[in-house]
Amino acid sequence: MQVVISPTKEDATELAAKIIADRIRNFPDSTLGLATGVTMERLYDVLVRMHKQEGLDFSLVRTFNLDEYIGLLPENKHSYRYYMNERLFKRINIDIRNTFLPNGMAQDLKLECQKYEKKIKDVGGIDLQLLGIGKAGHIGFNEPLSALRSRTRDKSLTPVTIAQNSPLFDKPEDMPKRALTMGIGTILEAKQLLMLVTGRSKAEILSKAVEGPITSMISASAIQLHEHCVVVVDEDAAECLQGKDYYHWIFQNEPEWEKYR
Ligand code: GLP
Repeated sequence: MQVVISPTKEDATELAAKIIADRIRNFPDSTLGLATGVTMERLYDVLVRMHKQEGLDFSLVRTFNLDEYIGLLPENKHSYRYYMNERLFKRINIDIRNTFLPNGMAQDLKLECQKYEKKIKDVGGIDLQLLGIGKAGHIGFNEPLSALRSRTRDKSLTPVTIAQNSPLFDKPEDMPKRALTMGIGTILEAKQLLMLVTGRSKAEILSKAVEGPITSMISASAIQLHEHCVVVVDEDAAECLQGKDYYHWIFQNEPEWEKYR
């Protein structure tokens, strides 16, 4: 795992966007795994800017999102489908038919999850999976006690996640208490993982995920098992990290990272 510490959340976000843009420029028909949350809002703004100003071309890109709330229509502004359409898909030249999220309105949720897994397999898997981290230590909505080999399925959300996400709803009590989410096993099958974490409020959970034992109680710790995983953080989020070998964006200049400057 490579951890890159950038001075500010803006620098960290730019770097994460450059890693994604690099992938798209080298492999225009890439399959991206996407994430939601406040952290990703900034990232999608940068990708939109790159599309508008640098001609970053999404026309052949395919996307699969990590998760979706159960019971929200795509038109509901709190659904992740709505979030993705408004924050990214409508603002770039992606073919909307190539964008996928689990359908949280499906009659048969189990079947929907199996179909989602099959769709990912049918296109040859995810090339680059973007990840945030929830305060509960989740990736996607893999709440504590998610099996490390889990597949896409429905999960009940824990009080920590409800406390984190419900203020984003007009009426906090309307936040669904269940969601469909790719499993940890699904996520680990992506060819590359890119985690973006910013802010002091994530510092403790980030250090547990990156430096603590691998445990189903903190699903993000499973990224330690992946052989090609980059974790991009700002200094606030890095505050509790103990490791001495992380790459500090402002102090070092290794060729591997130089190309992103
Ligand atoms: C939601 C998503 C996660 C995301 C998390 C972090 O819970 N299901 O995939 O990592 O939000 O969100 P934020 O960036 O708002 O802290």
